[in-house]
Amino acid sequence: MSNGIHIQTQGLSKNFGPVVALKDLNLVVRKGSVFGYLGPNGAGKTTTVRILSGLLKPTAGNATVCGYNVHTERNAIKSVTGLLPESPGLYSKLSAVEFLEFIGALNNLSGESLHRRIDSLLGILGLEGRQNDLLESYSSGMKQKVLVASTVLHEPALVFLDEPTSRLDPAASVLVKEIILAMAKETDTTFFICTHMTDFAEDVCEVIGILNQGILTTLGAPNEIIEQMGGRDLEDAYLKIVGGEIDRETLLSWRQ
Ligand SMILES: Nc1ncnc2c1ncn2[C@@H]1O[C@H](COP(=O)(O)OP(=O)(O)O)[C@@H](O)[C@H]1O
Ligand SMILES: [Mg+2]
Repeated sequence: MSNGIHIQTQGLSKNFGPVVALKDLNLVVRKGSVFGYLGPNGAGKTTTVRILSGLLKPTAGNATVCGYNVHTERNAIKSVTGLLPESPGLYSKLSAVEFLEFIGALNNLSGESLHRRIDSLLGILGLEGRQNDLLESYSSGMKQKVLVASTVLHEPALVFLDEPTSRLDPAASVLVKEIILAMAKETDTTFFICTHMTDFAEDVCEVIGILNQGILTTLGAPNEIIEQMGGRDLEDAYLKIVGGEIDRETLLSWRQ
């Protein structure tokens, strides 16, 4: 269906009125790989993900996702991909099982096979025993695990995770990171992960793209990027690329 390539974009661009959110993106993401999309707030990461998951039409350019065209086959794209959005909604008066049954129904899943899938995901995520408690009683890390489960419930070939750890404390972030690593290792699923957390990207992602003001400026394996920029680690390389040097004058200006 897509000869080893899961995402291919040519000149992909999106404007919101005068705002250029994404400019001339040319990107290839291989099937089964874990791709990290790094960039500061407002860089255009979420816009890219919304286009590639079939939610938003590009202004110009073209892309295929799992072989389907982003202009003409958006429903097919939605059926073979999963998306964990930046600020997902969750029904707090449902239990984890009820919520996953609901998401399953939206994806035309039901019966025995859906329940086997839910049980297996809850087991992988370490939520058995709590599966019938209301989600409002869950910690934020547990809620995020349920949301990850809901994103992969229909066994998508490609999963988009938009800032999956940004609202989590360090311990919950580590858990979510481990889950992504385990899923990436055990399945042939492709992961496209937006983040501005360089340590997360360095640990999890095989290939990293750095986006700044709508433009993809850097693409490569974490160690290649570090080497190329002469950085100590990915954070250092990233700050050199996006120009995020800490301005101590400004930082300390409150003292004057
Ligand atoms: N629906 C929208 N309407 C107008 N501007 C938008 C919309 N969505 C995003 N933008 C603008 O596009 C740019 C990129 O935003 P976004 O893709 O959300 O960046 P990121 O996810 O990297 O933080 C920003 O300048 C943002 O304000
Ligand atoms: Mg975003």
